[in-house]
Amino acid sequence: MTVHIGAKKDEIAKTVLMPGDPLRAKFIAEKYLKDFKQVTSVRGMLGFTGIYKGKEISVMGSGMGMPSMGIYSFELFTEYDVDNIIRVGSCGSFQEDVKVRDVVIAMGACTNSRYASQYDLPGTFCPTASYSLLSKAVSVAEKLDLPVKVGNILSSDIFYDDDPDSWKKWARMGVLAVEMEAAALYMNAAKLKKNALVILTVSDSLVSGELTTSEEREKTFTDMMEIALNLA
Ligand code: HPA
Repeated sequence: MTVHIGAKKDEIAKTVLMPGDPLRAKFIAEKYLKDFKQVTSVRGMLGFTGIYKGKEISVMGSGMGMPSMGIYSFELFTEYDVDNIIRVGSCGSFQEDVKVRDVVIAMGACTNSRYASQYDLPGTFCPTASYSLLSKAVSVAEKLDLPVKVGNILSSDIFYDDDPDSWKKWARMGVLAVEMEAAALYMNAAKLKKNALVILTVSDSLVSGELTTSEEREKTFTDMMEIALNLA
């Protein structure tokens, strides 16, 4: 057990899917996993381990934001010998052609956070996905005939930005969408020589102001989950 995870060492699989919401983790376990059991509930951050297509897989909430994702992914990688963490989350679109309900795979994650300052680098670090997980995700999506957009995203520390137009500068650099966790996950994976990937469904658009309804979110959520579960 660690400070923030109550599971025993052998109760977590080598591949962990991480939605932000712990109740979403419970829903994923109930909907997709066979013979699953709850392995942790410290601070209500539920985690489950079960079987998908004959392979053991875990699913656990990450919480919102880079500090929370930073804590859980670090403990999973270092204390539970997890090899692969796949975040399955939502994002807000920055681009006209990235529509609500689309699936975005984060090849890279820009950030406005100071998370990288801990490494004391003589420059700017570029947090990127694991190429093996990324290429596998793209081929799974092609095989299942699920369209995906692969590119750069922004991991922001700010949801309610004082400047409502600041996102447009990222948009001009081709950044596809915003969420709040990927860069911390990618940096932990880089530092610890592990694999990480972030798959997102577009829940809202900063371009059009459009929002998804809950049924629509459910449908695209299914597409994202099909891709993520087949990476175990
Ligand atoms: N901002 C940050 N995170 C998000 C958003 C957003 O608009 N939508 C979904 N996650």
